[in-house]
Amino acid sequence: MSHPHTPAHGHAEHQQHPHPHPHSGGDDAEQAEVLDLDAEVLAGHLAAITDWLPLDAEPQQIVDLGAGTGAGTFALLRRFPAARVTAVDASPGHLLRLREKAAALGLDDRISTVQADLDAADWPDLGTPDLVWASASMHHMADPGRALVQVRELLRGGGLFALVELAGFPRFLPADAPADRPGLEERCHAATDRLHAEHVPHRGADWGPLLTAAGLTVTGERTVEVDIDATEHPSVGRYALATLRRIRTAAAEHLDPADLAALDRLLDADGPGSVALREDLAVRTQRQVWAAHR
Ligand SMILES: C[S@@+](CC[C@H](N)C(=O)[O-])C[C@H]1O[C@@H](n2cnc3c(N)ncnc32)[C@H](O)[C@@H]1O
Repeated sequence: MSHPHTPAHGHAEHQQHPHPHPHSGGDDAEQAEVLDLDAEVLAGHLAAITDWLPLDAEPQQIVDLGAGTGAGTFALLRRFPAARVTAVDASPGHLLRLREKAAALGLDDRISTVQADLDAADWPDLGTPDLVWASASMHHMADPGRALVQVRELLRGGGLFALVELAGFPRFLPADAPADRPGLEERCHAATDRLHAEHVPHRGADWGPLLTAAGLTVTGERTVEVDIDATEHPSVGRYALATLRRIRTAAAEHLDPADLAALDRLLDADGPGSVALREDLAVRTQRQVWAAHR
């Protein structure tokens, strides 16, 4: 690789996820599977977002903050063929996976990875990017206001910050499913929402005022509705299975035993009740996007 992994200073103390909480499940491999499926199933929506960005010129240097396994990194590399992307994340496992994917795609000379805790008061040297991208990562920050100021300081003058956020996990099942426990999925979400409110209170926030308070100028905002029928994409069943598995980790102790048993039947990948076998699935969710200039 011509642009090797660059360890950020002080990374040794950040080997573990800095904020274990229900969204991460404390398990990087499980999260990585969901992030990869998310990128695969929502690829068209992600491309629509990168197409929409109000840029004056093609960016050359891009930084992807909280890049995970590279959903945004690869969408940006595809959209901007002359650009290089620096992918920053706290998780060495996610960054390793991102580098492996880049190598498999022949894109390793256009990426570099930096392992860093973005909650730190000092960020490592990330250059002077024309475009900073952060998707589903800013709500993880302990102090999002401070992180947004750091984003402004990082950008070159006139550069663009693209902030993509989500209100929550996608929904997959019809409201009357499963037959023996209708409404199960919403009850699972109600259980995890309580935990999210405690651990990631900025998820679902209105980021416009926060961006303005950080000294950025909001120049665009849009909501992208996602509604993908299982017949439209072969991975919807696997995506539902992987997501509900993570939700189970967070929701289990708050669920009624009959609901937990019904959830386990859906999660039994080889059983007749497996969610992956259902033909009535759809991916229903939203992405909110803010464009803000320095
Ligand atoms: C929900 S994932 C989103 C990943 C990717 N941006 C995407 O859209 O698929 C959130 C990412 O933020 C990273 N993250 C959370 N807190 C962080 C921190 N304090 N410093 C660096 N990365 C962090 C996690 O490791 C994870 O990869």
